[in-house]
Amino acid sequence: MASNEDVFVIKAKANGVQVIGLTRGSDTRFLHTEKLDKGEVMIGQFTEHTSLVKVRGKATIQTSHGTMESNDEGE
Ligand code: TRP
Repeated sequence: MASNEDVFVIKAKANGVQVIGLTRGSDTRFLHTEKLDKGEVMIGQFTEHTSLVKVRGKATIQTSHGTMESNDEGE
């Protein structure tokens, strides 16, 4: 069972931000892609099935490691 520290928050700062979950285990592949529009927030966890999350697009991402920004320019 994931602890609260595994919770992360993603807030989209543009339309069409993609949150992509990748599978846990020896076979790493895309599991699920969620699209967020500007202002939408997703609260997620790492799970038995998901060990990696990729964010594509402009967003604010909060994790137990801090808050960071992703953007379109790759900064
Ligand atoms: N069905 C997925 C799972 O339980 C849902 C999920 C959990 C997910 N965390 C995610 C999807 C992060 C995308 C990103 O693992």
